[in-house]
Amino acid sequence: MFPVQGKRVLVTSSTEGIGRGVAETFASNGAIVTITSRSREKLESALHHLRRINPAVYGTQSDMTNLDSLNSLVSYALHVMGGIDILVVNSGNPPREPVTFSGTEIQDWEHAIRLYLLSAVSLTKLVIPNMVSRGWGRIFFLSSWTVREPQSILVLADVSRSPLLQLTKILSRDYGKHGITVNTILMGSFPTEGARRTLSRYAESKGLPFDQVWKERVLDPISVGRIGDVKRDLGSLLLFLSSDMGSYITGTGILVDGGTSSAV
Ligand SMILES: NC(=O)c1ccc[n+]([C@@H]2O[C@H](COP(=O)([O-])OP(=O)(O)OC[C@H]3O[C@@H](n4cnc5c(N)ncnc54)[C@H](OP(=O)(O)O)[C@@H]3O)[C@@H](O)[C@H]2O)c1
Repeated sequence: MFPVQGKRVLVTSSTEGIGRGVAETFASNGAIVTITSRSREKLESALHHLRRINPAVYGTQSDMTNLDSLNSLVSYALHVMGGIDILVVNSGNPPREPVTFSGTEIQDWEHAIRLYLLSAVSLTKLVIPNMVSRGWGRIFFLSSWTVREPQSILVLADVSRSPLLQLTKILSRDYGKHGITVNTILMGSFPTEGARRTLSRYAESKGLPFDQVWKERVLDPISVGRIGDVKRDLGSLLLFLSSDMGSYITGTGILVDGGTSSAV
């Protein structure tokens, strides 16, 4: 579709859900890919699946909330792939979610800020010298449409990942002349285990049937009338932005939400 053959891609938090779909999109288009997650079992299962599509998929255990672990991850990815051309920063979900402000403890905030913000800062600092040395790079922070319209029950995630839009703008200015583009992707709803888990806890807390909550909170607000498909709707956008055709798009937040957001 868009040429990413031979590009070296690091996708974090990618043994399940959105990250895994993104990794599969790059792998099936001929890129060399490194995936990560905390669980060895999930890693092995994802590697088994992805290597049937493309043998050039690598993986290592890594925790987005642990800066030493991210350091080791980048060393590993540089070693096995020989460089990193494309960095896709995806995170898991705060374990306490869904929770409103009054239910949060300060430790939840520390965890969420490590998960979303410090991980992105740290990975970018570790990866960018490699991109600068070759005069080419792509950085994507995977975020949510809800940073523009913050949701009470996603307070930990939405507050912790909002500053990535500011970081995106600043990095795009600092590194644009080095051939590096930086964008935040404001994702809508994708049918992952993580999304189902959060919604099912919310439904339980309200004493409502899961199907009703899924319809009212997830499906009904989507203008195009269907939930997203990671590979088709998000993966193809990332392929386009990773190609030379996407080289004039940087420093911005790009909505891929089927029209969910009502903000102009
Ligand atoms: N799904 C949606 O509709 C949607 C919409 C907008 C934004 N998002 C955001 O997109 C991100 C991914 O969501 P998802 O629905 O794909 O979640 P998911 O189905 O729960 O998958 C999460 C993946 O991240 C890994 N992970 C979790 N915590 C991690 C950590 N601390 N360090 C490293 N890896 C970790 C998990 O593996 P391990 O458990 O083995 O670590 C798993 O591979 C979340 O930040 C979510 O808020 C999702």
